[in-house]
Amino acid sequence: MEIDRRAFIASLGGPAAVALMDSEAKADALEHWMEEHLDEQVAAAQGQPEKFPTVAEIEAQIETRDFRRGAGSLFTSNRGNVKKLEKMPKNPTIQDFFRLRFAPANHVLQSATRAMKTGMSEEIILACLLHDCVLSLIKPDHGWWGAQLFEPYIPEKSAFAIRYHQTLRFYADDDAGYEYPDQYYRIFGHDYQPPQYIADTYKMLKNHKWYMEPRLVTVNDLYAFDPNAKVSIDPFQDIIGRHFKQPKEGLGYDNSPSAHMWRTLARPDNPL
Ligand SMILES: [Fe+2]
Ligand SMILES: [Fe+2]
Repeated sequence: MEIDRRAFIASLGGPAAVALMDSEAKADALEHWMEEHLDEQVAAAQGQPEKFPTVAEIEAQIETRDFRRGAGSLFTSNRGNVKKLEKMPKNPTIQDFFRLRFAPANHVLQSATRAMKTGMSEEIILACLLHDCVLSLIKPDHGWWGAQLFEPYIPEKSAFAIRYHQTLRFYADDDAGYEYPDQYYRIFGHDYQPPQYIADTYKMLKNHKWYMEPRLVTVNDLYAFDPNAKVSIDPFQDIIGRHFKQPKEGLGYDNSPSAHMWRTLARPDNPL
């Protein structure tokens, strides 16, 4: 079977993440990848377009796993046991969380880099930088969870953009240059219909004066990761400095409405 090396490395979080894996972990990951992509490869070899699963086929996979698909990435590992996490420093900052809990954060860094290159406002660049970070904690309704996590610390427009990118990614907007991504046929099923609350939220957003804020997050969202892209948080330090209100007690210890979420990210091994 032919391996798309770039896509494989990207699926593991990029070359830096691969460098940290031991050879057994690499072999496991490769086997897993080959299993997952075998059908696609066979279809491609026969000149057929990729066959996307149905909603029913995706539902049938639920009982094949020992974890739920919505568990945050800090709480599961699809390559052997989870690893011990480095302790967070005292008075942790957003940069500390990027380094120790959201890493490698390639996807959000690439999205924010694209937003910066395409001349977006600082509120949008910040929203792109933070838009999927909450996936370390939990995955369902990640727009709402993510907005709640960051809301006490960022501009209202950025929080709005994070909350509603989850809705708008299901709806194409030709004028803004956003197509429904193939990736969603793959992960939700090709016959997936967003639930009613998402359809209602879309209707509300279409007439909202801030419609373009979450829309621009979806436009700069990336569905194909480039494993060779060199990304770092450094180009965003000024924007963070201007727009992210770091609490002096550290994230998790300032009694904000989302402080418990930061503490959970800091110590996901706590049993209670
Ligand atoms: Fe997202
Ligand atoms: Fe995203």
